[in-house]
Amino acid sequence: MENRFRKAESWKMFNRIARRYDAANRLLSAGQDVIWRRKCAREVPGDRPLTVLDLATGTADVLKTLLRRRRNIRVAVGLDPAKEMLAIARRKLAGNGSLLNGDAQCIALRDHSVDIVCMAFGIRNVANVEKALREMLRVLVAGGKLLILEFSLPQNSAIRKIYLCYFRHVLPVIGGLIAGDHGAYSYLNRTVEEFPAGEAFCARLQLAGFTRIKAHSLTFGIATLYSAETRP
Ligand SMILES: C[S@@+](CC[C@H](N)C(=O)[O-])C[C@H]1O[C@@H](n2cnc3c(N)ncnc32)[C@H](O)[C@@H]1O
Repeated sequence: MENRFRKAESWKMFNRIARRYDAANRLLSAGQDVIWRRKCAREVPGDRPLTVLDLATGTADVLKTLLRRRRNIRVAVGLDPAKEMLAIARRKLAGNGSLLNGDAQCIALRDHSVDIVCMAFGIRNVANVEKALREMLRVLVAGGKLLILEFSLPQNSAIRKIYLCYFRHVLPVIGGLIAGDHGAYSYLNRTVEEFPAGEAFCARLQLAGFTRIKAHSLTFGIATLYSAETRP
């Protein structure tokens, strides 16, 4: 219950760390986050005009990557409840794409109006995951694509042990120093460790009504890219 409450309020924490968020990401992931977002962009079809919605867009790194790598994106929309994150996103996008201040559990877009929904490192922060998945399904067109990037834990036990040591003890300290908020980075490791990743998340996608579900493990399994489609 406590975490559900914290998740419902997590956008306030992102407002506090917004200015240092990108720098902390680059450093703490040793630049891997850039590679993961590129991998996400490669999963976006390049053969037809697309409307893309990026949920939990934050400072818009996903949208920027997509717009740079996919010239067929006609409409790009980013959504996030944290206004300070969106203020940075607005500067970075420099007029490309539009931004909505909102919640993934209640998306202010019409039914079947979006070809691609992305969400990078956001689903873990949502209090009611099933509600958000229902909303994604609602706004996607028939045969539309969902791409979710999220942290996970390495399967290999030796790598997992080393990673957990870094994740629990080193990352909150360095993240706290860079972003000025130790709590934000201990929240990160707690929510990642309790998130039902891999097959468990694929099962939730299936239960929500998605099809053609795949999970691609990235960088020893410290992140996973999930792709799924709506029925044609
Ligand atoms: C770790 S950041 C990810 C930002 C960006 N997608 C990226 O790849 O860097 C998580 C974002 O989720 C947003 N968030 C928190 N709760 C949310 C919700 N219920 N719906 C949509 N976004 C939410 C936060 O405000 C924050 O900007």
